[in-house]
Amino acid sequence: MAKVFAIANQKGGVGKTTTCVNLAASLVATKRRVLLIDLDPQGNATMGSGIDKHALEHSIYDVLIGECDLVQAMQFSEHGGYQLLPANRDLTAAEVSLLEMKMKESRLRYALAPIRENYDYILIDCPPALSMLTINALVAADAVIIPMQCEYYALEGLSDLVNSIQRIGQLLNPSLKIEGLLRTMYDPRISLTNDVSAQLKEHFPDQLYQTVIPRNVRLAEAPSFGMPALVYDKQSRGAIAYLALAGELVRRQRANAHTATA
Ligand SMILES: Nc1ncnc2c1ncn2[C@@H]1O[C@H](COP(=O)(O)OP(=O)(O)OP(=O)(O)O)[C@@H](O)[C@H]1O
Ligand SMILES: [Mg+2]
Repeated sequence: MAKVFAIANQKGGVGKTTTCVNLAASLVATKRRVLLIDLDPQGNATMGSGIDKHALEHSIYDVLIGECDLVQAMQFSEHGGYQLLPANRDLTAAEVSLLEMKMKESRLRYALAPIRENYDYILIDCPPALSMLTINALVAADAVIIPMQCEYYALEGLSDLVNSIQRIGQLLNPSLKIEGLLRTMYDPRISLTNDVSAQLKEHFPDQLYQTVIPRNVRLAEAPSFGMPALVYDKQSRGAIAYLALAGELVRRQRANAHTATA
């Protein structure tokens, strides 16, 4: 049964999509079966997976409003090696369309239910807002991964985000956990980075991933070729960091499963 992760942060440009695409490809490299869901009308995860968002016959929007089956909308990312549920600007209409629907917060959760056992991991790329789309992701997910940059305002934004996730969880998905905090675009030469990092360690010792994602130009270049960094330049520091993250995530999963059954 797949573990479903929402990759979320209401702040824009923190590395959500980069994390989704590269973590998905890295999990595939470790022989896991992966589905990546693009839940952002920007369609960045779609393009970054080598699928043209302008040429979609079906997208996640059709799935959410019940116009098509999830399997019909899926496409295979050749370079990534994972299945993708693509998105494009059509998804902006979902905010309004969903409002009129029953169980509007649980549309994605119900759509995923029949296919969960076909995957080991399902990753959901959220838009930079706590919108109805992000709420659908949080209701469908077992856990949230929060990518963040170690900057001055990051901690303030983080406590707002954690509170919102906990509130949404209590109301709509009581078993939702905050699985991990991921430091992205990490540059240890900047002293503020080290200060923020130390505070994260203090406040979130169990959630903070040891793996950090460095600022690396290959990670920024790869999406324009529709590839994860692992394919674009597998020796790059970015590609290696995401492989390490996949390893840490799988080990943490195993340790949690062990504690749960012990
Ligand atoms: N580790 C990194 N090193 C260098 N550039 C990066 C790194 N991570 C992300 N970027 C670049 O930073 C920009 C923002 O990253 P990304 O699109 O992953 O963020 P996001 O949180 O998904 O943004 P949005 O909120 O708009 O969806 C992109 O141009 C991306 O290529
Ligand atoms: Mg994004």
